[in-house]
Amino acid sequence: MGKCGKFLFIVASLIAVFVGVKIKECSKSPPIPTVPEPYWGPGKEVKDDTTIKPFKVNISDNVLDDLKNRLLRHRLITKSLEDSNHHYGINSALLSEVVDFWRNDYDWRKREVYLNKFPQFKTQIQGLDIHYIHVKPDTNIQKIPLLILHGWPGSVREFYEIIPMLTEVQKGRNFVFEIVAPSLPGYGFSDGASKSGLGAVEMSAVLKNLMIRLGYKRFYVQGGDWGSTLAATMGTIYPDYVKGIHCNMCMNYNPVSYLKLFVASFYPTYFMTEKEVESIYPLSNLMSKHVLESGYFHLQATKPDTLGVGLNDSPVGLAAYILEKFIIGTNYSYRNRMDGGLKIKFDYNKLLDNVMIYWVTNSITTSMRLYSETVNVAQRKYNINKIETKVPSACAQFINDLFYQPEWILRDKYVNMVHLKNFDDGGHFAALEVPGVLSQDIFEAITKMEVLETTKE
Ligand SMILES: *[C@@H]1O[C@H](CO)[C@@H](O)[C@H](O)[C@H]1NC(C)=O
Ligand SMILES: *[C@@H]1O[C@H](CO)[C@@H](O)[C@H](O)[C@H]1NC(C)=O
Repeated sequence: MGKCGKFLFIVASLIAVFVGVKIKECSKSPPIPTVPEPYWGPGKEVKDDTTIKPFKVNISDNVLDDLKNRLLRHRLITKSLEDSNHHYGINSALLSEVVDFWRNDYDWRKREVYLNKFPQFKTQIQGLDIHYIHVKPDTNIQKIPLLILHGWPGSVREFYEIIPMLTEVQKGRNFVFEIVAPSLPGYGFSDGASKSGLGAVEMSAVLKNLMIRLGYKRFYVQGGDWGSTLAATMGTIYPDYVKGIHCNMCMNYNPVSYLKLFVASFYPTYFMTEKEVESIYPLSNLMSKHVLESGYFHLQATKPDTLGVGLNDSPVGLAAYILEKFIIGTNYSYRNRMDGGLKIKFDYNKLLDNVMIYWVTNSITTSMRLYSETVNVAQRKYNINKIETKVPSACAQFINDLFYQPEWILRDKYVNMVHLKNFDDGGHFAALEVPGVLSQDIFEAITKMEVLETTKE
């Protein structure tokens, strides 16, 4: 080794030691924070009305007439470039077809009957009227409470197919679920905050308090998208209440995990299976997909109110914005199909039910604020991305989901992962798209968790 070589070797070793120490420091799980539970309602704090009020979806004729008018009188949709499909955003031909269906074939009063098929309620938590579906199966076999959480741009509509599967007695199973499916604060029929600061961590407190209000002391949490983040957060900060979590779209947002993926890229098969390697490398492809698809995130995380003005004023604009996400999230290649694949896994009624829940409640702006409130500086004090989740955890990884991390990375966060399964079908909106597969996986995972729970006692 020459003089220069020796020098470089020493410098490289020092850097390696430094990086090693830093990774170790950063990997240490910080303490669980005490989350404040302030009043989020308008004006001065008033005591919560703790009664539980039955609720039915019943939108006034005024709102529906106004919508009809707007759908009739919307301005010309700018024609998409001839060869672009959905690469510049949703294609104008598909959007026009959806709007035609909405105007002529979609029957809201019928859809209301459908949306009212499960018992729904509202109760006030920290100043917010929270809407939720509550299904208590009428059976003698064991009923296990499960809180299921939707994300953005979703709603409780995502769960209408899966709820019967989770609550009906089936051969070979010795339990069913008692389901609580709330509209997240600021989404659909739940109030949004009147004060700033209701991010994912604070929202977890609201949802925990909802379960306590309903009399549940120990329960499971399931979710996708924001629902997955919230389930993980609830499991992390409320292990006394949360028996376990099941997520479709498990994520480890600790910055160290990105560093690890980068380091592993030099010899990935040492850390992961071939299949996992294929899903994430080359990292440059993954990064460019994220850049292409995450513009909405940046806008919602910074200027949700400005963005919301237009979406809240134009049903066509709102449908375009939401449906584009269903195209991309269901199968990334669907953006190359003129029909966006929307009718392969869904139908226009289902998709418009979800759009309508945002429209009739004026909730697109308040829903988007969850991004700003979660990624802002104020949330850093909780260190939530660095705290290990110690409750039993399960991950269902659907092949077409928007994000993917290998088990090796996930286990750094979900240190008590009892179940992880990969599925060759299904995407980001798994509950709506493949309810049978998802419900089966929830049963499998929670069966394992229940065994742990009983051996603990
Ligand atoms: C909806 O509300 C209207 C009046 O506000 C009432 O006449 C109607 O019966 C309600 N429908 C349902 C399904 O509750
Ligand atoms: C995704 O869509 C493409 C094109 O339509 C299809 O060839 C592929 O099989 C789909 N993949 C999955 C996993 O559904």
